[in-house]
Amino acid sequence: MAATLVIEGGAKLKGEVWISAAKNAALPQMCVSLLTEAPVILENVPDLADVATIGKLLAGLGTRITADGSGRMALETPGLVGHEAPYDLVSTMRASVMVLGPLVARSGRARVALPGGCAIGLRPIDLHLKGLATLGAEITLNQGYVEAQAQRLRGARIGFDLVTVTGTENLMMAAVLAEGTTVLENAAREPEVVDLARLLVKMGAKIEGAGSDRIEIEGVKELGGAQHRILPDRIETGTYLMAGAITGGTVTVRGAIPDHMPAVLAKLEEAGATLEIGSELIRVVGPERPRPTDFVTAPFPGFATDMQAQMMTLLGLADGESVVTETVFENRFMHVAELRRMGARIETEGNRAVIRGVERYLGAPVMATDLRASASLVLAGLAATGTTVVSRVYHLDRGYERLEEKLGKLGASIRREP
Ligand code: UD1
Repeated sequence: MAATLVIEGGAKLKGEVWISAAKNAALPQMCVSLLTEAPVILENVPDLADVATIGKLLAGLGTRITADGSGRMALETPGLVGHEAPYDLVSTMRASVMVLGPLVARSGRARVALPGGCAIGLRPIDLHLKGLATLGAEITLNQGYVEAQAQRLRGARIGFDLVTVTGTENLMMAAVLAEGTTVLENAAREPEVVDLARLLVKMGAKIEGAGSDRIEIEGVKELGGAQHRILPDRIETGTYLMAGAITGGTVTVRGAIPDHMPAVLAKLEEAGATLEIGSELIRVVGPERPRPTDFVTAPFPGFATDMQAQMMTLLGLADGESVVTETVFENRFMHVAELRRMGARIETEGNRAVIRGVERYLGAPVMATDLRASASLVLAGLAATGTTVVSRVYHLDRGYERLEEKLGKLGASIRREP
């Protein structure tokens, strides 16, 4: 069960890699099926552990899912047979809370386990709950579960205290069937929010402003089915660009949307990588040695927190000092201790990390406690002298489709061992 990835570092990656659809778009879009009896057909669904987890959750609620192995997935929820997201699923994947909005909207009832703490911080869902209450749901906490009830939700103005991606998505899915108009202010502007709105609009929802910080939703009585191709994964894209850059290689990433990652591309260039950008491709040529640069994570269009660990790994080899400030999550430097074991010189204080670049990483056995931290260790292993063994590969399987196959095709020496 507990697989590891064994990486022999030093190969300069070279070639082309196709990007999969975005995990963070696939998850809410699957939940959309709860809003309608009609079939929702998603194309390009990535084969990931998180997708399987949400599928299991939806199946327990009454969704029939058929997938043909080519990425096409049909979801149909003729009636709800349950209204609960149990603790074992929510605790493995926080995104499970996204059934809350659609369940209350469709059936007036939902029971969802509270996520509790996770490796990258407290990550509460208070804003999801506050928003639902504003739409008229009665919220109670009972033995670690949130229970929400409403006759029919009523449109309202919701101003988020801070930008929350799944919070915006959850409330958008709740508001599409509410009576009257809902305005989400300080809404998340992430491309995945926009893609979710696109799918909902195809189903008959009335949504304006997705992609801006003010989203207006006029509730409708019911939604129909739709067919939708999920947008490409900007975090996977960024990770492969970093892999090219950190090995001093030349990697072409295809099927990507450069406009979805302005800050990451800018920082890669500041770090000395050469980029060539087409409409659906990005080519990176890695520098001899990266240059130092500072960056601050922020909601879109800022530098994505989901790329912080990978960028830090690149800067760990830079010729000079870089400072990273993490503003989205309070505890997202778990990769630092592992990178240090590979020779990195990184000091953290609060939400700041100071990186003094070293000339090389040395292979080592490492493990990580979350998805993107694990990706950063793979990157370090690709650049390192010697062998790196990354354990807890299940974190990577949550979010990177066929990682070792894709890296292998680019010339990396990487293999999975049981
Ligand atoms: C989503 C992404 C995740 C990414 C994150 C930030 C999915 C499935 N996951 O997570 O990969 O790292 O956006 O880009 O799309 N917060 C509250 N109260 C709330 C909700 C959030 O205080 O009710 C805080 C969080 O603790 C965090 C910040 O807001 O500090 C941003 O979190 P949020 O945008 O909600 O992250 P997720 O939607 O969980």
